[in-house]
Amino acid sequence: MLLFVINLVVMSPILIESVAEMQAQSLAWRAQGRRIGFVPTMGYLHEGHLSLVRLLRPRCDVLVASIFVNPIQFGPNEDLARYPRDLRRDMELCGQVPCDVVFHPSAEEIYPENFRTHIEVGELADNLCGPFRPGHFRGVTTVVGILFNLVQPHLAAFGQKDAQQALVLERMVRDLRMPIEVVVGPTLREPDGLAMSSRNVYLQPEEREQATALYHALQLAEKRVTAGERRADKVVAAMTELIAREVTAPVIEYISVVDRQRLHPLEQLRGQFVIALAVRLGKTRLIDNAFF
Ligand code: PAJ
Repeated sequence: MLLFVINLVVMSPILIESVAEMQAQSLAWRAQGRRIGFVPTMGYLHEGHLSLVRLLRPRCDVLVASIFVNPIQFGPNEDLARYPRDLRRDMELCGQVPCDVVFHPSAEEIYPENFRTHIEVGELADNLCGPFRPGHFRGVTTVVGILFNLVQPHLAAFGQKDAQQALVLERMVRDLRMPIEVVVGPTLREPDGLAMSSRNVYLQPEEREQATALYHALQLAEKRVTAGERRADKVVAAMTELIAREVTAPVIEYISVVDRQRLHPLEQLRGQFVIALAVRLGKTRLIDNAFF
C-alpha cells in the first residue's frame, strides 16, 4: 500500500501555469547543473507525443512537456476554437512516461496586450504547407522561441510527422545560435498506418477508414522508388490516383517531392528527399510524409 502511494506521488508531474514560475524553475535547475529536456505540444496527447518524451527521458535529468494551443499559428478559418483539449487526461499520460513538469500557460500570459515581436525563418516556410497556412510557421517559430526562453532546455524533441515544422525549427535554432540540441523522432502510426494526430478525433467513421489513403500513397511511392522510378511527376501521379480511388471526395492540397535540406521541389529523385502530402477529408486536414 505504502509503495503504491509513493509510486503515485513520484509519477505525478508538477503543473506549472505561470510564466515566471516556469522560468524560475528552469534557472534553478540550470544552477544545479541539471540537464533539461523539453517536448512542446498543443495537448490532447497521444503515443506520438509520448514517444518524444520517451526519446528524451534517458538523455536528461528533468523533463518538461508544454501544453499550449498556440492561437497565433492558426489561421482565421482554422480549428483554434474546436481544437481538442483534456488537461486531466494529458497530466495522467505525462505521469505515466514520466515527465517532471507539465507547463500549461494561458494565452494572455504568453501574449500580453503589448506583445509585438515575431520570429520568421524565411523560405523554408514558403512551400509545402506554407501557402495553404499563411502565417502558420511564423506562429510556430515565435511560440517555440518564447517557450525555449521560459523552459531553457538543453534538448528539445519534435516529430518527423511535421517534417517541415521540424526543419523550420532546426533552422531557427541554428540561425539564432540557440544552445539547444534538436532531436527529431519518427512518426508514430495507428495499426492501420494512419499517422497519429490530435486532429484524428475530428474524422467521421467513413473518413477515418479512408484516411489510411495517405499512408497507402506513401507506401506506393516507396514501392515505385525501390523499383527504380526516378521521375517525381510519375510518383506524384500514382499517389494522386490512389487517393482519388480510396477517398470519396478528397481535396488534395499538395503531394510534393522535395529535397531534404531546403524543401525545394525535385523533378528527378536523387540524394536525400522527402515525399510530403496534405489532404483534406471533409473538415479535417491531414498531413503525412516519408523520408528517402
Ligand atoms: P502538436 O501537434 O501537439 O505536436 C507536438 C509534437 O508532437 C510535434 O513535434 C509533432 O511533430 C509531434 N507529433 C505529432 N504527431 C506525431 C506522431 N504521430 N508521431 C511522432 N510525433 C508526432 O506541433 C505542434 O503541436 C505545435 O506546432 C508546437 C510545436 C507545439 C508549437 O505550438
